[in-house]
Amino acid sequence: MTALAASVVLCGRLSVRACLPYYCAVELFRVTGGTRLVGEVTVGGAKNSVLKLMAAALLAEGRTVLTNAPRILDVTIMSEVLRRLGCTVTIEGDAITIDTPAEPGTEADYDLVRRMRASINVLGPLLARRGEVRVAHPGGDAIGSRGLDYHIAGLKRMGADITSEHGFVIARAERLHGATIWLDFPSVGATENLLMAAVLAKGTTVIDNAAREPEIVDICAMLTEMGARIYGAGTSTLEIEGVDALSPVTHRTVPDRIVTGTWAFAAAITRGDVTVRNSEPSHLEIALDELTTAGADVELFGPCEGFRVRMDDRPRAVDVVTLPYPGYATDLLPMAIALAAVADGPSMITENVFDARFMFTNEMVRLGADVRTDGHHAVVRGKEWLSGAPVRATDIRAGVGLVMAGLRAEGVTEVADVFHIDRGYPGFIEQMRSLGAEIERVTVPDDTMALDF
Ligand code: EPU
Repeated sequence: MTALAASVVLCGRLSVRACLPYYCAVELFRVTGGTRLVGEVTVGGAKNSVLKLMAAALLAEGRTVLTNAPRILDVTIMSEVLRRLGCTVTIEGDAITIDTPAEPGTEADYDLVRRMRASINVLGPLLARRGEVRVAHPGGDAIGSRGLDYHIAGLKRMGADITSEHGFVIARAERLHGATIWLDFPSVGATENLLMAAVLAKGTTVIDNAAREPEIVDICAMLTEMGARIYGAGTSTLEIEGVDALSPVTHRTVPDRIVTGTWAFAAAITRGDVTVRNSEPSHLEIALDELTTAGADVELFGPCEGFRVRMDDRPRAVDVVTLPYPGYATDLLPMAIALAAVADGPSMITENVFDARFMFTNEMVRLGADVRTDGHHAVVRGKEWLSGAPVRATDIRAGVGLVMAGLRAEGVTEVADVFHIDRGYPGFIEQMRSLGAEIERVTVPDDTMALDF
């Protein structure tokens, strides 16, 4: 009998790892629950802004510099997208320098788009600049179906000829023209793509029911500095008068309101006391209001100065409804579930943006949370303590929500697939530790190849 067969007979379990000279490793966060987070953190630039600002650099030949940029995995991926389009990208400290050639490339392949959906943001600028573009269709992901129909319908109204072939969206237009576009839903990505196409189109474009997120206002600010004519930034009607050419600029990225909100929830969940610096509390009004309703003491320090959240007792249950900005952000839904899971009483959490955002709650249940979902509602009955267990991050925000829940769980919680968290939270472990969390990053062999008989 071979050694391999013997191991099958003996253990009833064959680990492929045991028979291969090389095997993969996974990184996880090991969290020991029970600590109150106390101290001060500083927030960097917004992931969901900087990635679009990087795409906007394609609109002008020459050197664009983005400051207050977060050091996250998604910036590395977007840098690679731009390099493959012929740009030179260097990152030093919190500054990204992008040198865009006169004629950037026109194709973003699946290899990169599947790793980061925001790669789709090159569609609008490249079509405007080059008159043609091939971008791999990103497909859906762990939070929902995430269509592209609004992007495509809007660009078609501006005169683009768009087909879908072999997994690529292929768009062509000699010169886009202005159009009136009504979005069925205020999609962030569609607003950005249409905006970046419209700035170089001939004539005036009106985007109605446009997204109003601070990241949209940020990109409008940068485009305006570049010479674009945009009216109505931050409202649901954007009017854009196309110009012939734009110039590159240096621009400071808006602070990350989702990272900011995450720290605010972390304070409340752990009954801690956290001051968040370099953040804009007015971008989080509803979320901070929910925390006040839950019993937290929220002290605001003024524009861009940040705020302090202190929670002394067990949080009270709160009902949360996600909506496009200025509503409660869907990206803070996992944090609301983590808070509700340890709050006093039942909470109703309603998701109105993505169709599968509750998928991760199965992992919360592994931590002992009492969460029941029905369509786009979840009822969460809070418990004093959760119970540490191994769980898996399915996306950035779910991963962080699980870490937050682990902070209020007895024993040890291991959150696997933390590359998701690396995509959006710079220096996450260091910041958590500076607030007193017992958390470490550990590398373990990947057991997912193990076969059970
Ligand atoms: N939608 C369509 N058709 C479209 C476009 C969108 O049906 O053509 C639907 C989507 O399926 C979804 C809803 O509209 O149900 C909202 O999608 P939206 O386009 O607004 O989202 P996005 O641009 O794909 C950005 C952020 C998300 C954030 C949402 C909502 C980036 C890179 N991503 O996504 O951030 O949740 O806006 O605020 O900016 C995250 O950072 O973890 C994240 C998921």
